[in-house]
Amino acid sequence: LCCRCLITLTLALEETVEAVEGRNVLLPCLYSGDIPKSKEVDVAWRYNDDKNVHDIIEGNVYVDNQDPVFKNRTESFPDAYGKGNFSIRLSRVSGSDNGTYSCLLTFASDTLYIKLHVKVRPPDQHQAPSSEWLTLSPILPVVHVLFPEPPTGDM
Ligand SMILES: *[C@@H]1O[C@H](CO)[C@@H](O)[C@H](O)[C@H]1NC(C)=O
Ligand SMILES: *[C@@H]1O[C@H](CO)[C@@H](O)[C@H](O)[C@H]1NC(C)=O
Ligand SMILES: *[C@@H]1O[C@H](CO)[C@@H](O)[C@H](O)[C@H]1NC(C)=O
Repeated sequence: LCCRCLITLTLALEETVEAVEGRNVLLPCLYSGDIPKSKEVDVAWRYNDDKNVHDIIEGNVYVDNQDPVFKNRTESFPDAYGKGNFSIRLSRVSGSDNGTYSCLLTFASDTLYIKLHVKVRPPDQHQAPSSEWLTLSPILPVVHVLFPEPPTGDM
């Protein structure tokens, strides 16, 4: 982030996502504008603004710099990149995953990012998981697109 002083950084969306301890959670990061060729998009998922969660560089997953806390626990979906879907699945959620996740999309000279406040709750509270689908819009104000909830909120 700090090295990218010459590009504009736009907060496109900020939302809360609920996760259940011990389960998986899908952290949505969707881009609704003209989909740049996925090879031209860099995606940086960060936790609390510094820990490296998951990187997609020129269309390839790159986890060499990933924080050990997230080792083997993140997955993105290369087949979906072309649709602007840079969501990740975080596996085996623990209480310490609580916090703010950012998905930064960099292409051309712009970075758009969304912030997801992930609230971890214990598995014994039987509430319907709320998992909203969020879409980035290149034009502010931001457009929220709600998709039907996945059956369990985890995958
Ligand atoms: C991640 O998975 C690899 C291959 O299955 C394994 O060798 C490694 O120990 C795992 N790392 C962690 C931190 O679980
Ligand atoms: C994004 O991709 C993931 C993994 O394929 C999928 O589960 C999710 O439904 C997709 N989101 C949308 C809005 O298509
Ligand atoms: C996660 O953070 C929220 C809000 O800060 C808090 O209410 C909740 O108890 C935390 N959960 C865990 C498991 O730490």
